Order: sequence, then C-alpha cells, then structure tokens
Amino acid sequence: MNSILNFPERGNYGNASYRGNCSGYVQKELIEHFKPTLFIDVCEGSGTSADVCKELNVDYIGLDLHKGFDFTRNAVLNFTKKQADLVFSHPPYHNMIDYKAERLKHNLLTTGNDLSSCSSVEEFLELSQLMLLNQRDAARKNGIYTTLIGDYRKSGEFFSFQSDFIKMMPKDELLSVAIKLQHNTMSSFKNYNGSFLPNNHEYLIIWKKKEADVFSFIETKIAEIKRTYNDSWKNIVKLALMKLDNKAKLDDIYSMVMVLAPEKIKVNNHYQAKIRQVLQVNFTPVERGVWALN
Ligand SMILES: C[S@@+](CC[C@H](N)C(=O)[O-])C[C@H]1O[C@@H](n2cnc3c(N)ncnc32)[C@H](O)[C@@H]1O
Repeated sequence: MNSILNFPERGNYGNASYRGNCSGYVQKELIEHFKPTLFIDVCEGSGTSADVCKELNVDYIGLDLHKGFDFTRNAVLNFTKKQADLVFSHPPYHNMIDYKAERLKHNLLTTGNDLSSCSSVEEFLELSQLMLLNQRDAARKNGIYTTLIGDYRKSGEFFSFQSDFIKMMPKDELLSVAIKLQHNTMSSFKNYNGSFLPNNHEYLIIWKKKEADVFSFIETKIAEIKRTYNDSWKNIVKLALMKLDNKAKLDDIYSMVMVLAPEKIKVNNHYQAKIRQVLQVNFTPVERGVWALN
C-alpha cells in the first residue's frame, strides 16, 4: 500500500447499485497492509467491507443505520463488545447523496440520525467528529481507525472535509493520508472553463490510536488552537510591519492591522492591547513607540 490509491475497477464487492459504494480494493489494501484479525466498518452501506473480509478470511463486524446502529447515538463498543485492530468508516459526504432515500430504495431500515441529513456543514462536521471519536474508542491501543472522505462544493463554495477531519483528531495519532483517485465521475467527462476545478479524488485518512484518554486529547486540542490563534496574530502583525518597510510607529501598526484583518478586529474589542502584547513578545522596540522586525 502507498499513498496513491488507484483502482479503475471496483471489484466484485458490495452492491454497485447502492449509491456512493466504494471499491473493495480500498479495504483490501488496508487489510493486506495492517493485517487486522478483526475489522469493523461503522457504516457498511451495501456490505463492501463484509465481502472483502470474507474473501480474505478476516473476522468482521459491520454496522449501519439499516442494522439499527447509529454512530451519533450508539457507542460502537456497546455493539461489538470488543475492540478491533482496524475500525473503518466511509460516511456520507454531507448531503451529496440522500442515504435515507437510498436505504428505502433497497428496502433497508431507515431509522436514526442520518449523517446525510444534516442541516448545515457545521452540524455535519460536529457529528463526523463524534463518529471518529466513536471509531477511536472501538480501536485497541496501537490499532488503526480510518475514514474515506471526499471534499464538498456547494453554491460555488468549497469545503475541505479532509482538512477538517484531520484537525478534529489528535495530531500525534495521524499516520498517513492517502489520495484515492475517483473514476467515472460526472465531472471527469466534462471540460470546465474558468477557475472551476473538478474534484476527482477522495482521501483515506489513517490514524493509529495511542494510549491517551479522550480528556488529554481535548487538552492537546485546546493547546493547538491557542497556538494557532497566537501564531495568526503574530503573522498578521509581522505582515503589517513588512508592509510598513519593517519599521513603524505603534499607531501606524494599528492602522495597517485594521486594513489587513478587519474581520479579526471586529470580534476583538481589545485588539490594540493584543497587538501591543504580540509586539512585546515577538519584536524589538527600536525607539519609544517604534517597532521593527528582528
Ligand atoms: C457512503 S455510504 C457507505 C458505502 C459503503 N462503503 C459501500 O461500499 O457500500 C455511507 C453509509 O453511512 C450510513 N450512515 C449514515 N448516517 C449514519 C449513522 N448516523 N450511523 C450509521 N451509519 C450511518 C448510510 O446508511 C450509508 O450506508
């Protein structure tokens, strides 16, 4: 297995008429690489993972809304009763496909909180994190939890779900991000003009679970967010100084930051104090009230 997954054929796994089904070669690569003895799929759809595991003689537990399991309300472990070496998901990409309708079409159970029915991208991301935490909980220590996800575009706006997913889980557990090429998509047959770029790939994001409990994971996330917040402020002030030829009076720095980051200023009533703090920590006063880049 390497970081480019390219399978022009989907293989004889699952049901090709279940919309959004994936190529079984993804699960096959994962199994051949990580050699799990137990493989869990938390949203198995048409059973692609089940077929691959059967072929490769790997123990398998498959869950989905149509099996009465809802990863936004039920702990995976309460269903499986044991942790697995590999916990896989291939969730809906927000509302790109209506899976309630899909299950109805295939005469499958349709109860539960379908991830394809979220009212906003924010809700989709919140519930996706719950799914990932749930998968992580069901993975044994040093086990793998992994998800296949595509990015999303709506009314001209682009959302990088893979980047959001990576940010919402522990940084030090991220093992790899593989690109999976998509074949036979509508957009691959069209020529587009202008700035539009069709999306012809998905991502397989792979994490390896460490010992840490969920609480220390939250602490780490808070520290990461604080660091990103402080780094953003530092870089905005630095860019302001660069635009002012690397040396400027405090009032000119305030004005330049206002030009550069009006939205950030709008939500921070104490922005002048924040700028002074950033200057004191990171830059040098060359004379009273005048600052320069180091
Ligand atoms: C992209 S499909 C999976 C397709 C599958 N990999 C295949 O090859 O057939 C996503 C699946 O997520 C399921 N799903 C959506 N929300 C869910 C939830 N809250 N809990 C469990 N499964 C959910 C849907 O029923 C659907 O079958």
